[in-house]
Amino acid sequence: MGSRLLVRKPLSVMREELQGEHRLRRVLGPLQLTSLGIGAIIGTGIFVLTGQAAHDKAGPSLMLSFVVAGMACVFAALCYAEFAAMVPVAGSAYAYAYATLGELPAWIIGWDLVLEYAVGAATVAHGWSHYFQDFIGIFGVELPRELRSAPFDYKPALGELVSTGAIIDLPAALVTIAVTVILLKGIRESATLNAVMVALKLAVVLFVIAVGAFHVDPDNWRPFAPFGLAGLSFFGHTVFGETGKGGEPLGMLAGAATIFFAYIGFDSVSTHAEEAKHPQRDLPMGIVASLVICTLLYVSVAAILTGMVPYTELSIDAPVSDAFARVGLPWAQFIISFGAVAGITSVLLVLMLSQPRVLLAMARDGLLPRRFFGSVHPVFKTPWKSTLLTGFVVATLSALLPLRILAELVNIGTLLAFVFVCAAVLIMRRTAPDAPRPFRVPLYPLTPILGIVICLLLMFSLPTENWLRLAAWLLLGFAIYFGYSRKHSAMTARP
Ligand code: ALA
Repeated sequence: MGSRLLVRKPLSVMREELQGEHRLRRVLGPLQLTSLGIGAIIGTGIFVLTGQAAHDKAGPSLMLSFVVAGMACVFAALCYAEFAAMVPVAGSAYAYAYATLGELPAWIIGWDLVLEYAVGAATVAHGWSHYFQDFIGIFGVELPRELRSAPFDYKPALGELVSTGAIIDLPAALVTIAVTVILLKGIRESATLNAVMVALKLAVVLFVIAVGAFHVDPDNWRPFAPFGLAGLSFFGHTVFGETGKGGEPLGMLAGAATIFFAYIGFDSVSTHAEEAKHPQRDLPMGIVASLVICTLLYVSVAAILTGMVPYTELSIDAPVSDAFARVGLPWAQFIISFGAVAGITSVLLVLMLSQPRVLLAMARDGLLPRRFFGSVHPVFKTPWKSTLLTGFVVATLSALLPLRILAELVNIGTLLAFVFVCAAVLIMRRTAPDAPRPFRVPLYPLTPILGIVICLLLMFSLPTENWLRLAAWLLLGFAIYFGYSRKHSAMTARP
């Protein structure tokens, strides 16, 4: 039984499958892949969570938080790139784990990627809603209170859930439905729309940096790290750094664990491996380029924001546009809110594009019902049924659950996936040392080892309840695996 759970899918089988029927169209070049990467990365993290993280956890040292979280991602990204070039199939980390660690770990990762993509998309839809409301607010339009946000929120200072007086976050649910409709039509159309939105948001981020630089008051950067530079706890016991009223770790590292969300998405490039024209060359480039560009932009935006407004006064809902309104540039608020709405839409688009592709890969292996998750639309060539299901789940989550809880859950799930991918590189180099590797992780084995260490560090810098939520999520995953997937696995049915 143990060996069945750890049965591996040979690389040769994956490559064979790539030649088969029902594959997705190979239409994406290097620029489109980088653009998909940036499209998935810059969004709610930088436009919304920056405010929370600086205000509650890191102060101006948020700049360093972005460096640390960026480092974790660069190490993981290089590991992703090695795999993506080696086995350019749609399943991303799930497929890599299947080839190296075995079926059960692969299932855990696939299940975990639902946290990253579907729950991540719900988080992003909330950010969209904040900026949308900020935008219409400029014209004096306000939604009724009942429709503005999720019905409850978590207040870290009190350590408890509080009612918001709202019933649902209507804009979040509606934008999710709109994106689902676009996705059903197909990847080429989605990629073009994505490119336009990416251009727009890059312009806005550069605008924030260029114009904001003239409004920085260096006094706002003092004290640089009001909560210290650490923020590490071990299941509720602070190891290094300060602890907040709700028992959550505080400090630069804790800030890094929060804004890690801002980097999520670069790996979605690898879920499009099957649609890349030249995956071996372009995937590593797309992943690494989009990540490096975003890191530079993020550190700059964090420096500008905390320099423009004292961290204690940063807005939690729409911090970037609010900072410009505060320094007497209300017209800039208009540009930023508009750009943020467009930019965050593209994140939603890419995350919701990636989720059905992971489910598709799992269905092909028999771990999910093939007729539903494996069905590719005959005309649009999109995994339409699972796209619809993803849309439904994301819309429901975003309408009802608060941003803070969703974001932290996504972070811990994604960090775990990164740990697995880094570990998988170490294992694969031993088990298949001679397999062709068009891209190799530099400074091996240091890179994957550092990736594992920093990701674990960040996992422990998140409030402890996230470990419990992750455990509950994984238990649900185990129930599905043992109830369905194990019995239907294509690998165990092989002679
Ligand atoms: N990195 C993406 C964002 O910040 C998920 O919205």
